[in-house]
Amino acid sequence: MNEQALSVRDAIITRRSIKNFNGQPVDQENIAEILEDAAWAPNHGNRNPWRFVIAADKDYVKFLDVLREYAVPKWKELPKEDVERQMKKFKGPGAVAFVIVPEDVRQKERLEDYAAASMFIQNILLLAWDKGIGTCWKTPGFLDNPKFRAELGVKPEERIISMLQFGYFDEKPKGRPRKPLEEIVTYYGHDNEAQ
Ligand SMILES: Cc1cc2nc3c(=O)[nH]c(=O)nc-3n(C[C@H](O)[C@H](O)[C@H](O)COP(=O)(O)O)c2cc1C
Repeated sequence: MNEQALSVRDAIITRRSIKNFNGQPVDQENIAEILEDAAWAPNHGNRNPWRFVIAADKDYVKFLDVLREYAVPKWKELPKEDVERQMKKFKGPGAVAFVIVPEDVRQKERLEDYAAASMFIQNILLLAWDKGIGTCWKTPGFLDNPKFRAELGVKPEERIISMLQFGYFDEKPKGRPRKPLEEIVTYYGHDNEAQ
C-alpha cells in the first residue's frame, strides 16, 4: 500500500493539468503502481473497459520518434530546428500512457465504457499528483490516425481516448475558476430565482 500524503479533497482541488514538464524521466514502476490502484474505478458490470499502451523512461525517449512521425506534419521536409521546436512539448514529459477503450456498438454500453475509463483516468491524475507527478490528458488529432493506431496495436473496435502525459514539473499552474454552484445547480422544489 502506498503512503498517501494528500487527503482526497486536497488531491482533487490542488491537482492541475501540467503542460510544462521539466524533462525528468518517470519510472515504469511508478506508473504501474498508479494504474494498479486507479483500476478500482467504478465500471458497469465490472467490464473493465480499458487498456493502456505505456512508454516510460528510456522507452519514452525511443517513442519520441513515433511522435515526431505523427505529430509533426511533413517533418522530413522541414529544417531540423523547426522539427525540434515542435517536438519540445513532447520532450518535457517522462512517460506517456495511451488509454484505449472498446467501441461497443450499443450506445449505452459505449457511453458507459467511456465514462468508466474517464473515472479511471481521474484516479490516475489524483494518484500521480499525490506522488508529485504531473499529468495532462491530451487528445491530439493523430490519436485517430489509422497508421498511428496500427503502430500501437489498436483494434478496429477500439478507440484511443487519451494521450496521458506524465512528468515532473517546476511550476504549478494556477487553476482557472469553475462556474459557481448557483449557476450549475437548481434545488428541486425551491424557488431558485429568489436565491
Ligand atoms: C477530455 C479531455 C481532453 C483534454 N484534451 C486536452 C488537450 O488536447 N490539450 C491540452 O492541453 N489539454 C487538454 N485537456 C486538459 C484541460 O485543458 C485541462 O484539464 C483544463 O485546462 C483544466 O485545467 P486543470 O486540469 O489544471 O484544472 C483535456 C482534458 C480533458 C478532460
